[in-house]
Amino acid sequence: MPAPSAPLLDAYRGTRPARLPVWFMRQAGRSLPEYRASRAGTAMLDACLTPELAAEITVQPVRRHGVDAAIFFSDIVVPLKLAGVDVEIVPGRGPVFARPVRDAADLDALTAHELAPEALEVIEDAVRRTVAQLGDVPLIGFAGAPFTLASYVVEGGPSKDQLRARTLMHADPRSWQRLTEWLADVSGAFLAAQVRAGAQAVQLFDSWAGALSERDYRVAVLPASARALAGVEGVPTVHFGTGTAHLLPAMRDAGADVLGVDHRIPLDAASALLGGDVPVQGNIDPALLEAPWPVLEAHLADVVAAGRAAPAHVLNLGHGVPPTTDPGVLTRIVEWAHELP
Ligand code: CP3
Repeated sequence: MPAPSAPLLDAYRGTRPARLPVWFMRQAGRSLPEYRASRAGTAMLDACLTPELAAEITVQPVRRHGVDAAIFFSDIVVPLKLAGVDVEIVPGRGPVFARPVRDAADLDALTAHELAPEALEVIEDAVRRTVAQLGDVPLIGFAGAPFTLASYVVEGGPSKDQLRARTLMHADPRSWQRLTEWLADVSGAFLAAQVRAGAQAVQLFDSWAGALSERDYRVAVLPASARALAGVEGVPTVHFGTGTAHLLPAMRDAGADVLGVDHRIPLDAASALLGGDVPVQGNIDPALLEAPWPVLEAHLADVVAAGRAAPAHVLNLGHGVPPTTDPGVLTRIVEWAHELP
């Protein structure tokens, strides 16, 4: 069967499509009134585990903005929940774990959980429903990278500098390895389930990897991220983090086809660091979504011009859509990108 063609997939494979593909991280979310209406009265993780609802929310931004991809509505902690781990997503805060992993007994308790293939059927159901509604628009599956997940699991919730996780990494490297390998297998299984059910690309989110030195990343994190990505076959893989200018080649070495870049480094500089032969995705500064259109438009033009240095470019934000964003601005960016010569 020939690989499906869509501007997004062409760019991910390293060829420049006729029109610049664009989608937004966190495009399915609180910036959309239809999302808030769909979610009313349903807890975040319950919404993720209700296939009709997850499919509906995934498709909403495609319907409204005409973006070139959908990203599956779920969360990085969903596969842990499906493995039986006690985790909730607290509004305004993020994932919170009932039993943070602080010592060997906590780690034993966590890794005793197994993600059975049957537990992933709810995800496959949601992905199949989504793909059926999307038609020619590709669906991107995703998972959290082991380090970013570990930063929540060890802390028990969101943290500022991922301090406790980085302490464990150095204080007890054997436990750290066990933890990140377990997380890699859970995220890898989550990715594989989405691909089995029809996702045409995947993105690994290592949002907080920028807290690490390159050495720590290569020694203590890269092997687990590579292990998570190794479960994916046959579709392009994107690897994203924030504050990762110093880590881009290492993140590429973890086995990704495309690098997601945040707004702290221009795409031409990022591309040069990557040797000039890796497609890039990014990197509109989310702060500029609230600026007057001429200011935002000048920034968009800069991003697109810098993106020409790479073999291919997918326009996106440097991080997720803020909940306060006017959705009309996102639609306008899509129209602007699609009208580029
Ligand atoms: O549109 C999309 O991008 C797809 C869905 C998606 C969500 N979370 C939905 C979500 C994706 C790709 C994620 C990934 C995710 N989740 C990451 C990595 C990406 C990133 O943003 O850095 C991280 C670190 C998490 C953990 C997490 N989940 C946080 C920090 C929060 C925010 C908590 C809050 O209320 O501020 C969540 C909740 C979450 N995940 C929401 C959504 C739409 C908000 C839930 C709500 O509507 O109440």
